[in-house]
Amino acid sequence: MLTQEQVYELLNPIEDPFLHTTFEKTGAIEEVRIKEEKKHVSVKIAIAKTNTGEQMQLQQEIVNVLKKAGANTVGLRFDQLPEEVIEKYQPAEDQDKAHSLLGEGSKTNFVAIASGKGGVGKSTVTVNLAVALTRLGKKVGIIDADIYGFSIPDMMGVEERPVVRGEKIIPVERFGVKLVSMGFFVEDNSPIIWRGPMLGKMLTSFFKEVEWGELDYLLLDLPPGTGDVALDVHSMLPSSKEIIVTTPHPTAAFVAARAGQMALQTDHEIIGIVENMAYFESKVTGEKEYVFGKGGGKKLAEYLKTKVIGQLPLQQPYDEDGVFAPSVYQEDHPNGKEYRKVAAKVIDTFE
Ligand SMILES: Nc1ncnc2c1ncn2[C@@H]1O[C@H](COP(=O)(O)OP(=O)(O)O)[C@@H](O)[C@H]1O
Ligand SMILES: [Mg+2]
Repeated sequence: MLTQEQVYELLNPIEDPFLHTTFEKTGAIEEVRIKEEKKHVSVKIAIAKTNTGEQMQLQQEIVNVLKKAGANTVGLRFDQLPEEVIEKYQPAEDQDKAHSLLGEGSKTNFVAIASGKGGVGKSTVTVNLAVALTRLGKKVGIIDADIYGFSIPDMMGVEERPVVRGEKIIPVERFGVKLVSMGFFVEDNSPIIWRGPMLGKMLTSFFKEVEWGELDYLLLDLPPGTGDVALDVHSMLPSSKEIIVTTPHPTAAFVAARAGQMALQTDHEIIGIVENMAYFESKVTGEKEYVFGKGGGKKLAEYLKTKVIGQLPLQQPYDEDGVFAPSVYQEDHPNGKEYRKVAAKVIDTFE
């Protein structure tokens, strides 16, 4: 029957599936017990990531090796390697990847969606731009950074919450868009009071502690106005570009100008203005009524030396059986088509 030393000898050369480093080096084998009479071997193995498909494969491999060497039955438990060991042996590219969204080699384009005030459709634009980019084949994530007014989960009809795997938060996915929202971390819609340093910390965690995978675009739904979060985003994401959302009302455009100016002061390129609730088109006569005024988007674009890249009329998405997403326009919906154009223009500014 096998001895403890033989078990170590057999298992030591096996590699950790994530660190590609032998068990001998990572100190993976935490315990070996042998029951002579039953020919039972039980081992406890620490690996970099537990409860994965790779773990299942590894399990098979270890059981096979031990049975081949004479064990009748094998008991196997997995444990998590200490953080220091993981960091020490983590392949360089993974280390980069872990910080890749903000890192130098990052291929992710950041787009912050800003507005002067609330209620103009900033979140609606964020959601629909994200979905439109996905429809054009891009990998897209959203950070709902509107800490007091988070609404994106509801708008997309997201009911589940993100799961935590290891040290990372796995974003929720809907319509192919990955989403993280402050709303996921608040109980019962209760208000939260944020103090200065917490804001930046929250944003940092949304970048670093979320397993985004590879993203082409990360959209940020900023709180309205020019507050702390907007400032944090400006300093944290120097390469971010911005879209300013306004209604066509001259006053709304005037307020939005401040948010736009803040972007310019921090060297964020403004991709363009989205004029939302631009008009109402009567289904009966086809006539357009400019219920919220006219020309605000154009005026704002001139003021900020940019263009109007989309004009969305007042419209609800179609009712769809079995799909609950109150604010997502379908691909063939007139607003869905307009968002497709906006998405194409956004892509143009980055490529
Ligand atoms: N083009 C539109 N047509 C009809 N309703 C809209 C349109 N854009 C936004 N809304 C609605 O207006 C409200 C405010 O929009 P929202 O995106 O939440 O604004 P913000 O994020 O700027 O506060 C929401 O109820 C949204 O569904
Ligand atoms: Mg909003």
